[in-house]
Amino acid sequence: MEIKLITDTKSQECDVFVVNMYESEKTTEEIVNKYAIEEDHFEGKFGTTYLLPTYGKQSARKILVIGFGKKEEFTPDKLRQAVAKSIKKAVQIEAKTVTFDFSGVDFDYTEQLVYGANIADYTFDKYKTKKDKKIETLYISGDLFAVEKAEKIAKAMKFTRDIANEPAQYATPQKLAELAESFGLETKVYDREDCEKMGMGAYLAVSRGSSRPPKFIHMKYSTPNPKKRIAIIGKGICFDSGGLDIKPASSMLTMKDDMSGAACVLGIMSVIKDFNPEIEVNGIIAACENMPGCSAYKPGDILTAKNGKTIEVDNTDAEGRLTLADALCYADELGVDEIIDLATLTGACMVALGTVAAGIMGNNDTLVKELIRTAEKCGERYWELPMYEEYKESLKSEFADMQNTGSRWGGASTAGLFLKEFVKNAKWAHIDIAGVAYLDKPQNEFIKGATGAGVRALLNYILAQ
Ligand code: BES
Ligand code: MN
Ligand code: ZN
Repeated sequence: MEIKLITDTKSQECDVFVVNMYESEKTTEEIVNKYAIEEDHFEGKFGTTYLLPTYGKQSARKILVIGFGKKEEFTPDKLRQAVAKSIKKAVQIEAKTVTFDFSGVDFDYTEQLVYGANIADYTFDKYKTKKDKKIETLYISGDLFAVEKAEKIAKAMKFTRDIANEPAQYATPQKLAELAESFGLETKVYDREDCEKMGMGAYLAVSRGSSRPPKFIHMKYSTPNPKKRIAIIGKGICFDSGGLDIKPASSMLTMKDDMSGAACVLGIMSVIKDFNPEIEVNGIIAACENMPGCSAYKPGDILTAKNGKTIEVDNTDAEGRLTLADALCYADELGVDEIIDLATLTGACMVALGTVAAGIMGNNDTLVKELIRTAEKCGERYWELPMYEEYKESLKSEFADMQNTGSRWGGASTAGLFLKEFVKNAKWAHIDIAGVAYLDKPQNEFIKGATGAGVRALLNYILAQ
């Protein structure tokens, strides 16, 4: 979808001209007021639509009225959802060109409009012989800078959604490494032997049950005299079968999504040069599969992570935190100021927060709060979970420094406490995206599948530095 900035929206030739209507208020279009409101009693309730043919009397073939609901209850989130709804409606009637003409909105909505349109126009049809219908051109009026920024972020989101929607047979550790190397950034890919030398015993243990070799990926965007140096780490389990503690079929069904954190990091790094931020950004992924092959790591194994801490394997399905442990050590040793990790880490987080909000925790309150605030402003939701010391009890092991699983209760928090053991110096935030990264069914502006969770919030966070 191409977005074109125009000044005269009314005279733009297009298939669908979208106007908004607040509940029980008139619109700017006489013809809408006459037919939709007076004749058909369209009320403008939030998310409802009314389609009006123009019979060639206007520059648009059809007018689509989108209900904005009560004016005093209207928010940027609702605007984005209304845009998405309009786009879906336009696609449904096979429109190719759409013009938006909103009035009476008292906040700057350009960014949300661009996000909403791009999110809604997305489908993953690579493997379908009959391709999905798409909008070709979107005409809007607005601020060029805001449009360009939001378009780049939307492009990163699409990249992330594509790679997370790809089946595990395609999105292998090797593939993630190749993608990382294609961005023109300073990139290192460490093989199994390199990782052995670096002492990444926890990560490598997870990788052993698969015939596909692990790839530890480090991309670096640098700038002279960076204001700050940060690392973003994405959990990169290309498929999580559970390992020897194998998952039941129904839980394994969507486990190609267990590299959604990695996909987010790749999406961000794919556009970072276009933004030229004044901070250094290290994108890190410990990619591998968690499989029950004959060399697989076993319950009871004792592993040594990069920082020397020993871990007794209590459950091979708690693999994400093992790979992240070594990735966190690696990032911390870079001497960065901040580390942010994104991981489809626990079913417990999904139980706690559902599919609308990601869980966030960390060792620095300012960083966590700032991420929550940034996420909220651009349409994501992060909810802080506690890291109470009490929960650490359950990570104790008889034979090693700790074990990799804790109590079932407060599972997202114990996973967070486990990760905390591997960050010594940096400020750190952990975002558990298990519930939000991949949807089983459509939700708001998203279709089933990958959502690109983390891309908007983290890119906006990076740009605000
Ligand atoms: N990848 C899963 C977590 C997950 C679950 C992501 C559902 C998305 C949807 C993770 O590796 C896992 O298996 N976690 C276990 C941990 C347990 C064994 C302590 C879980 O949550 O059940
Ligand atoms: Mn698992
Ligand atoms: Zn996993």
